[in-house]
Amino acid sequence: MTYDLILRRGRLITFDTEDSQLVDIGIKDGLITAISPNLRESTHQEIDLASKLVSPPFVESHIHLDSVLTAGEPRWNQSGTLFEGIQIWSDRKREITIEDVKKRALTMLKEQAAQGILFVRTHADVSEPQLIALQALLELRDEVKDWITLQVVAFPQDGIYSNSQNEMLLEKALEMGADAVGGIPHYELTRDLGVLSVKRVFELAAKYNRLIDIHCDEIDDEQSRFLEVVAAEAIRTKIGNRVTASHTTAFGSYNNAYAYKLMGFLQRAQINFIANPLINITLQGRTDSYPKRRGVTRVKELWQNGLNVSFGHDCVQDPWYSLGTGSMLDVAHMGVHICHMTGRQEVNACYQMVTNNGAKTLHIEDKYGVEIGKSASLIVLDERDYYDAIRIRNQPRYVISQGKIIASTIPATTNFSLTGNWI
Ligand code: FE2
Repeated sequence: MTYDLILRRGRLITFDTEDSQLVDIGIKDGLITAISPNLRESTHQEIDLASKLVSPPFVESHIHLDSVLTAGEPRWNQSGTLFEGIQIWSDRKREITIEDVKKRALTMLKEQAAQGILFVRTHADVSEPQLIALQALLELRDEVKDWITLQVVAFPQDGIYSNSQNEMLLEKALEMGADAVGGIPHYELTRDLGVLSVKRVFELAAKYNRLIDIHCDEIDDEQSRFLEVVAAEAIRTKIGNRVTASHTTAFGSYNNAYAYKLMGFLQRAQINFIANPLINITLQGRTDSYPKRRGVTRVKELWQNGLNVSFGHDCVQDPWYSLGTGSMLDVAHMGVHICHMTGRQEVNACYQMVTNNGAKTLHIEDKYGVEIGKSASLIVLDERDYYDAIRIRNQPRYVISQGKIIASTIPATTNFSLTGNWI
């Protein structure tokens, strides 16, 4: 048999022009092997999509799976700040076990997959001396690889130099197999140590040939300027496309003269950016009176200047954010609002920030996309276009991972009657 599965009459829409075409998609051995207006062959498993939208799957480019589903343990975050969240997590993480992390993370991954997320970059806190979270997530990466691709960042939550062991733990995490090396320069004890930490991250990435994803300037302090250090290191090493600056919320507080100069450096550096609009609209601005800042990086301007930006959920029901379902459409919806990206093309760009742009950041473009030869991982949406997908935020009708239908959701139906007579 030529195909294992054929999707009939699916609608593909190009991002830029919004041109659409109806196609049949042939899938064999987990790969897309044909895309044609009319596939003549048939197979035992076929689905008529009846013009439903076919999209590449969502990419979660920034989440902390080690802390998901712990909100309120051992206490709730009363101030709502990043720093109280770090304190609460440092208490909670004394009790983590491999089973605890794997159970919560797997629950989350299933919820994500049902919502069309098939590629996930998670951070694992490696400031904890047993490296339990890392070990758990590395084991899980292997156990789920047949239906979701997991990438693990070694993230020194408490800082690389805040404790004499932390630098060693970060390197050990790379030896154990973390996919990327992280940092948190704005949480190091001094500006100098923050600069040193960024340089150390680049050294380790070179030594172990890993990607870089740094929590950078996640604070409203307009003097927090580690993004320029990341850009300078990326320019020096010429590896910008392997480097990601996450959060960079202070960029939203920089004065325009400095921001304008910095944007030119960023264009030279060609690094990736990840904004986390759901989380940072709640974490930031907490020390402001009025007006309160939005606490989000300059997403719109980065996009307008041709830099690669993706959106992440960051946290789901944990010490930093007690809400959330993991939905990337919720993330994009919030991004549309707080980044002032409500124009038609801007909304479409926000959809790309939870799909293609995330794939670029994760360096998975060789297998990502609805194209012949790529992994047969895609989603089918009931909405007519990307704009409505974000506006309505329904779960995908079908989620297909590596050629298998792993989730289907039947849309809710509402009956309406002005007579009130339901019999
Ligand atoms: Fe984060």
